[in-house]
Amino acid sequence: MKSYLSHLECTSCGETYIADEPNRVCVACGKVLYARYDLASVRNKLNRNLLAGRANNMWRYREVMPVRREENIVTLGEGITPLLKALNLGNQLGCDSLYIKDEGLNPTGSFKARGLSAAVSKAKELGLTRITMPSAGNAAGAMAAYCSHGGLEAHVFMPKDAPIANRQECDAFGARVTLVDGLISDAGRISREKAAEMGLFDVSTLQEPYRVEGKKTMGYEIVEQLAWSTPDVIVYPTGGGTGIVGIWKAFGEMMELGWLDKVTTRMFSVQAEGCAPIVRAFHNGEQYAEPWENAQTKASGMRVPSAIGDYLILEALRESGGSALTVSDDEMIEAVRDMAKAEGVYAAPEGGATLAALRKLLESGQVDPSMSIVLMNTGAAYKYLEVLA
Ligand SMILES: Cc1ncc(COP(=O)(O)O)c(C=O)c1O
Repeated sequence: MKSYLSHLECTSCGETYIADEPNRVCVACGKVLYARYDLASVRNKLNRNLLAGRANNMWRYREVMPVRREENIVTLGEGITPLLKALNLGNQLGCDSLYIKDEGLNPTGSFKARGLSAAVSKAKELGLTRITMPSAGNAAGAMAAYCSHGGLEAHVFMPKDAPIANRQECDAFGARVTLVDGLISDAGRISREKAAEMGLFDVSTLQEPYRVEGKKTMGYEIVEQLAWSTPDVIVYPTGGGTGIVGIWKAFGEMMELGWLDKVTTRMFSVQAEGCAPIVRAFHNGEQYAEPWENAQTKASGMRVPSAIGDYLILEALRESGGSALTVSDDEMIEAVRDMAKAEGVYAAPEGGATLAALRKLLESGQVDPSMSIVLMNTGAAYKYLEVLA
């Protein structure tokens, strides 16, 4: 097994970069870099059915993952989370094929484990030993855990109202935590300043090319779990957008690999009423999203006033024929309770938002109950107990 990583490519201007040296964003235009692979060779060498016997974690997709040498992979067993058939909720909503992808079961309790396993592994491979990021919570916890396991030094800049579990886990994993009086965007600015001052490598969302490579494995998995088909609908709680664009990237790669005949999925982005830059830009027909003023929501992962990958999220929604919508904090918290009661899945508020959004999509007729629908529960409620109390 080996990685077929070939180069990095700017998603906006197309400039290419060598993948075997540290890169962040496109030097030419400042936009997001994607890892590209020699997919034609993978297509010749790897039949999708051979995956069945492989490791039960996201590194089973090794050929389309960015780490070249196995000894650099820093894994805590992330990925291959259950795609649960939500029969009870399905009955309540009249949906025949409703699924919950339960990312709360990842190490450190969220899908952020995937991105940070990939980013920390690649950082290790590139000889980087000290990394930093701003995070509203879950990403920081994951980075701290993977740095601890991989022997890297982690620096975290976190809004001071981030969930207590995230602060505590960062401390437990030995990260150097700075609490910031402000939003994730303020934490981002300080993280960048400190990175320059202290020689740290900044792994902010979509400002280094590899976190999205971990997150794209959600797309590979969903397809593998659905016997090599895509669902009709995916509802994703959107903050910085790596999850949604990662899944969309995965579907594109799987088409090129010949692992999928067609992509049937419409991607729906859900944001909070108090912070909905992507929803606003989508409905205004814009290519980029204006920053959201006074961002407010209890779902800390969705409290992202501006995203560097805004154009990629909007592209995925439009190319897929999906849409974007908001839910209120009350609606998402009520949905967390409903999902817990009906299915035994205690979701993060962000996961609850997907159920609240589905209700609206069914009501407005944008989604038909006969469709196969995947709700992405991106995290575990256990990290938000004070918000859910
Ligand atoms: C639980 C949870 N859900 C969703 C998100 C938003 O994810 P993305 O940045 O991929 O849009 C986050 C980000 O912090 C999160 O922690």
